[in-house]
Amino acid sequence: ELGPSDLCHVESMSHNPSGAGKINKLNAVILGDSLASEEDDLILPSAQFSQSALISSQQQYENMYKKSVDDPAGFWSEIASEFYWKEKWNPNEVCKENLDITKGQVSIEWFKGASTNICYNAVDLHVSAGNGDKVAIYWEGNEPGQDGQLTYSQLLDSVCQLASYLKEVGVRKGDAVIIYLPMLMELPIAMLACARIGAVHSVVFAGFSAESLAQRIIDCKPKIVITCNAVRRGPKVIFLKDIVDTALTESAKNNVSVDICLTYENTSAMKREETKWQDGRDVWWQDVVPNFPTKCDVEWVDAEDPLFLLYTSGSTGKPKGVLHTTGGYMVYTATTFKYAFDYKPSDIYWCTADCGWITGHSYVTYGPLLNGASVLVFEGAPNYPDAGRCWDIVDKYKVTIFYTAPTLVRSLMREGDEFVKHYSRKSLRVLGSVGEPINPSAWRWFFNVVGDSRCPISDTWWQTETGGFMILPIPGAWPQKPGSATFPFFGVQPAIVDEKGKEIEGECSGYLCIKKSWPGAFRTLFGDHERYETTYFKPFAGYYFTGDGCSRDKDGYYWLTGRVDDVINVSGHRIGTAEVESALVSHPQCAEAAVVGVEHEVKGQGIYAFVTLKEGVPYSEGLRKSLILTVRNQIGAFAAPDKIHWAPGLPKTRSGKIMRRILRKIASRQLNELGDTSTLADPGVVDQLIALADC
Ligand code: WT7
Repeated sequence: ELGPSDLCHVESMSHNPSGAGKINKLNAVILGDSLASEEDDLILPSAQFSQSALISSQQQYENMYKKSVDDPAGFWSEIASEFYWKEKWNPNEVCKENLDITKGQVSIEWFKGASTNICYNAVDLHVSAGNGDKVAIYWEGNEPGQDGQLTYSQLLDSVCQLASYLKEVGVRKGDAVIIYLPMLMELPIAMLACARIGAVHSVVFAGFSAESLAQRIIDCKPKIVITCNAVRRGPKVIFLKDIVDTALTESAKNNVSVDICLTYENTSAMKREETKWQDGRDVWWQDVVPNFPTKCDVEWVDAEDPLFLLYTSGSTGKPKGVLHTTGGYMVYTATTFKYAFDYKPSDIYWCTADCGWITGHSYVTYGPLLNGASVLVFEGAPNYPDAGRCWDIVDKYKVTIFYTAPTLVRSLMREGDEFVKHYSRKSLRVLGSVGEPINPSAWRWFFNVVGDSRCPISDTWWQTETGGFMILPIPGAWPQKPGSATFPFFGVQPAIVDEKGKEIEGECSGYLCIKKSWPGAFRTLFGDHERYETTYFKPFAGYYFTGDGCSRDKDGYYWLTGRVDDVINVSGHRIGTAEVESALVSHPQCAEAAVVGVEHEVKGQGIYAFVTLKEGVPYSEGLRKSLILTVRNQIGAFAAPDKIHWAPGLPKTRSGKIMRRILRKIASRQLNELGDTSTLADPGVVDQLIALADC
């Protein structure tokens, strides 16, 4: 049996000076900010906010929370009843789960046997309820002044046309569809069209390289890839169709051929005449989709039928296809959205995430639309044409809920308050943060400057795997502490465990696990249930293991302290160190590479790569650039190393294991905290590395 000592994360944790396997709260630091002083600082929502909030007191939260954990089936059934189901679930079998690997196969099912359709709930229902003229999507283009919008009725028509087309070309229930699109309205439209006909979408973030896209195509074998010819992001034009062409050539070499490449002509970036074309395979969206009927029957699917696959990074090289199903995900994303942002029908909601990540799935597309919200979709870059763009957009659309990532908050904070103060921002009511721990100084700037000390911040902790929010402050209910995600959502039962997997109570630090399933949980890794069990359920038997370190303070507040496995979080993007390493070693001059995360002022973590060159190859700036380019080409620009550190050798144990603990200390220049190096096969490499640190 695999014990936690077999996991790399234990090694990661033991670099803490307080001793092996412990995260000492008093030493806990998030991006340079000590957390110890934040523990006693309570920031209360205004009485005015609380009075009109959906959940207006701690007591109300506690009553609901108690009900949700005492009787999860009853609690979630009641909420699920507010949705449309073609057929209802068996009340005695709302949830069936086994999270305990020692008792057999891990499995999670919610509302099994019931049938529904998430697109029908997110779009049709609002139209039939008389809200067809409400704006579903506001679209703001890269260039200021470039915009558009779709009402719920128009959204329904567009979704149906694409769904009808997909059916016509043979896409059936259960088939995979890859979507490689930037933040055009066509991206949520494509997701919803797949959901409507029971096809399984897999959105690939349009910043991924051709190789990464090919890898995903080869894994899920889609009938069709949906893309566009090009996109403008800030001052740059990105030729997406070229990337798709390369990926399709690559997948064909692996015997996976895709019949159709449906391409949206994004005229503001590129004309169709300039687009490379493969007749027979490539089809212009605008030439076919508008000719299809604006009515398309819904495919009723089982609550446990797959809705989508989303690839994410793990601690080994191969990305994991996280699989979410329909019913539980629908109920969970809608409910978390509503309470986390205190959603009111009059809200204008803007989440800056791209639909290529889970945040865009759950909180650009499904959660908000299921609530009938007006959602803003932004194509461009948040600092283009200048650092005031976000606040310009907030004023233009009178955005009331603004949900973003700490990395953006920090980068705008650096540009100074003037860019913010130039705009009114009076419409803002609730702010949100996601992707990584928000350091208290960024939290305060977000709260004081952006929100004029008026708007509660929903710091939402969750993961691709969890489908929806897990730990967050319900605005209106809780006094906040800057940097703490505060308390669990309804039905979520966190446990902090020690290295032996024993739950620790009260004020403590350790590994964050979850004890029971919740409706939005992922059900498997596509094609690899064994990896699902090994990665998430084997480390601590009986629990779902999140991969995060966490502490709980004397008032019960949760403080997330970051990943404890070999995953790094760069600007809220999850990157496996092994993926970057394998890209580096594919370079003809590279013999070996070891990658660690290092604190980065804006990105949260930066990528720091130790590279050993092949015998006789000299160090050079050109080579450094070419190594970085290799990573950009193989994964994507967001995974490019911030630093290449030449390494004549790497610190290894006698059994050949790289000691990352030491590399992390060298990377962060904590040279007096290297710890014991006597177990290294060659302790001399440490001094060599230090000598080359600034070369
Ligand atoms: C990892 C999940 C799900 C949102 C986007 C990222 C970190 C995410 C927070 C937060 C502290 C956070 C965790 C988690 N994380 N949100 N509010 N506070 N850490 O999704 O790519 O699946 O990454 O992001 O380390 O495990 P993801």
